[in-house]
Amino acid sequence: MSTKPLRILIVGAGAVGLFYGSRLHLPEDNILVSLVCRSNYNAIKANGVKLLTHSFGEYTFHPENTFNSVQQAAELANIQWDYVVVTTKALPPTSTDDSEANLVKPVVGKDTTIVLIQNGIGIEKPYTDVFPHNVLLSAVTVVSAEQIEQGIVRQNRWTRISIGPWGIGSISHGRERNKLFCDILKKGGVKDAEEYDERGLQFVRWHKIAINASFNPSSVLSNGAANSDMAADPLLKTHILGTMREILHLATIVLQSPLPSKFATPEKIIESTLRNTRKNFDSNQQKSQKRPVKDDGESSRPSMWYDWAQGRPMELEVILGNVVREAERVRVDVPRVQSMYALLCMAQARRDAERKRKTGARL
Ligand SMILES: NC(=O)c1ccc[n+]([C@@H]2O[C@H](COP(=O)([O-])OP(=O)(O)OC[C@H]3O[C@@H](n4cnc5c(N)ncnc54)[C@H](OP(=O)(O)O)[C@@H]3O)[C@@H](O)[C@H]2O)c1
Repeated sequence: MSTKPLRILIVGAGAVGLFYGSRLHLPEDNILVSLVCRSNYNAIKANGVKLLTHSFGEYTFHPENTFNSVQQAAELANIQWDYVVVTTKALPPTSTDDSEANLVKPVVGKDTTIVLIQNGIGIEKPYTDVFPHNVLLSAVTVVSAEQIEQGIVRQNRWTRISIGPWGIGSISHGRERNKLFCDILKKGGVKDAEEYDERGLQFVRWHKIAINASFNPSSVLSNGAANSDMAADPLLKTHILGTMREILHLATIVLQSPLPSKFATPEKIIESTLRNTRKNFDSNQQKSQKRPVKDDGESSRPSMWYDWAQGRPMELEVILGNVVREAERVRVDVPRVQSMYALLCMAQARRDAERKRKTGARL
């Protein structure tokens, strides 16, 4: 595919980064992936990444380089990265210096394309503010993956990733970079890597956020209900449907266009969520003969629930807060989203303050 090596750096070596990184790494085509790790650095440096996948079976991915920080990637490697792929959770900065856009600054050259594979609305702007002249690609995935031990990733199901350019700097060669990135993923077996234009991708993003912003906070507020349990419960189903409708209506106003007919309606989403019960998932896995070795039986709960339960920050701002702010901007009411945002911001602040009080630790 390429004569001079094409180099890709993944920043955020968790479930999503390691899964897609392993599919993008094609040494026979001179496409080489390196990783910026954090807590899993020692495990991956020593053994590479073990993948237990529903779609591709089991394999080990050995990246070209494994770094323990972005700074180390910049200092040790002296590489002009073709793509820097950000797959951290999209969380607000805790100080002015560690915004994610600033985090990747040392590895972004003038020809580097930045790819964001993250959930949420409004995640692109911090990057265009810092890198107005770089191509920025925005990507939405529906993969279900988790890092079950350091350096071991289990992909439970799905591979689909939708990618489109973002912003003025992306208009000319942005499309080529977008196409190339999709082509590499397809070559790596991700057959449903889909190329979009800017508006098309934003519809994908809003449609995904309609699902995430309905199910994820509702799971936290209902003490860890699985998606299929929420879809089956009459009261929660009304709430989930109402939230999805609220967000999809807002999306049509923000994007100034009706929702394209290819997207599932809230009712269809509820139907398919009901089909995705634990029992059906297990039976499909067994039929495929590619059953992952370990399955904790809880993969149909949203990751926000796990973040809450394990005391980690939740992606509240990009999943709820930015929706509320967009609604205020265009003067549309989103009462269900606003209520969940307010409740969870307070719950998270109280949880963190309580932990700080108990441990005396600085959070
Ligand atoms: N997992 C899924 O199935 C799935 C599906 C669809 C969308 N998504 C979205 O994809 C994004 C990534 O999710 P994920 O599940 O892959 O999260 P994850 O497993 O928590 O991975 C994030 C990784 O980023 C690392 N990281 C964070 N800040 C860093 C920094 N400053 N320097 C270096 N590394 C840093 C974390 O390191 P530590 O481990 O040291 O904290 C972690 O390894 C999120 O926006 C999520 O909502 C996930």
